[in-house]
Amino acid sequence: MTAIFNVPVSLAERSYEIIIQAGLLERLGRKLKNQGVRGKIGIVTDRHVARHYLKGSLEAIKRYGIEPIPIILPPGERSKTLKTVEQILDVLASHRFERSSMLLALGGGVVGDMAGFAASIYQRGIPYIQVPTTLVAQVDSSVGGKTGVDHRLGKNLIGAFYQPRAVWIDPLTLHTLPTREWVAGLAEVIKYGIIADESFFAYLQRHMSELRRQAPGIVATVVKRSCEIKAEVVAADERESDRRRILNYGHTIGHALEALGGYKSFVHGEAVGIGLVQEAELACFQEICSRAVVEEIRCTVNEAGLSDRMPQWPPQRIWKAMLHDKKVSGGRVIGVWPERIGQVRIGPIEKHVFEQWYAISRAPSPHGHA
Ligand SMILES: NC(=O)c1ccc[n+]([C@@H]2O[C@H](COP(=O)([O-])OP(=O)(O)OC[C@H]3O[C@@H](n4cnc5c(N)ncnc54)[C@H](O)[C@@H]3O)[C@@H](O)[C@H]2O)c1
Ligand SMILES: [Zn+2]
Repeated sequence: MTAIFNVPVSLAERSYEIIIQAGLLERLGRKLKNQGVRGKIGIVTDRHVARHYLKGSLEAIKRYGIEPIPIILPPGERSKTLKTVEQILDVLASHRFERSSMLLALGGGVVGDMAGFAASIYQRGIPYIQVPTTLVAQVDSSVGGKTGVDHRLGKNLIGAFYQPRAVWIDPLTLHTLPTREWVAGLAEVIKYGIIADESFFAYLQRHMSELRRQAPGIVATVVKRSCEIKAEVVAADERESDRRRILNYGHTIGHALEALGGYKSFVHGEAVGIGLVQEAELACFQEICSRAVVEEIRCTVNEAGLSDRMPQWPPQRIWKAMLHDKKVSGGRVIGVWPERIGQVRIGPIEKHVFEQWYAISRAPSPHGHA
């Protein structure tokens, strides 16, 4: 018997459970039946994930008398568009899905964000279940109900808050994940330690080499603790008016780097890894945290196999990209700043402070962190 972890996401009548269980994918049929699914279910996935997991999932579902309708999308961020969501809607409409019909998102954050958004608008909302298969999706995107797509003028510009009925995580699916995607996901995990849990951060430091090797017990524990922290933050602030903003730590600079790299230079988590360190540097410059905090974050990010280096781009371009991000309020950028490991604060930063820091941090320094 494999260990099962249950993490509740408490959102009044929209509450649901995250279940983490190795081998869960083989039990999909029974779980859907227990969830009350009868008749059809739409299985939204992408080509990469389909290659590994679709056949087995379809068989597991059919065994319980449920008819799965596969909807296979092209993989990658570039397909996270309204056009692709329309393809999902076309399938739902042509198979005469009803208000009570369900969708299941089998894949990474791209699949989950699109399937969730399609579920939120088809017939004004049908239920959906998240079955995330990347580390980013298991610890972050599948939990919290943010759904949507990119617009050519900005990432995640179009979307809805729409909670899933359940999140079912099978950590075994991570074995087929490309190493680059695995390592990128570690940036989000490290983020949770910094924003909310010093002892989790210490756990990550102690077990980083096992985590790099995907040691099973460690992976399940890390996914569970990350989900708990995300669930707690989301429960306190479902629609990101205040506390939920702490989840954006590392993402102000991270998103700017992603955008300036044309979404090609970095995988999301790689940009966030740099953001975790550089935003700590900025916090230190503003005298919000000590240099020791910065170095601890840098060291952990590097141990995970992630870079902490800012590309050599002009500061005005980086600032402009930061302003473009959604976290802007009245022309200022609202950042998330670590005070110490396990505690962050939210606060604005002015352009001249950013540029001053940037100039000083690029100058040769006795610490050698230029
Ligand atoms: N909704 C949210 O709150 C939230 C939070 C964080 C990120 N996101 C979104 O999530 C997306 C990033 O998600 P991601 O990092 O999962 O990327 P992704 O969905 O593009 O997946 C990364 C790659 O891995 C492949 N893949 C997925 N699972 C696999 C598996 N088990 N084995 C082999 N290959 C597999 C995919 O086909 C893809 O090529 C972004 O669009 C981001 O905006 C959303
Ligand atoms: Zn992220």
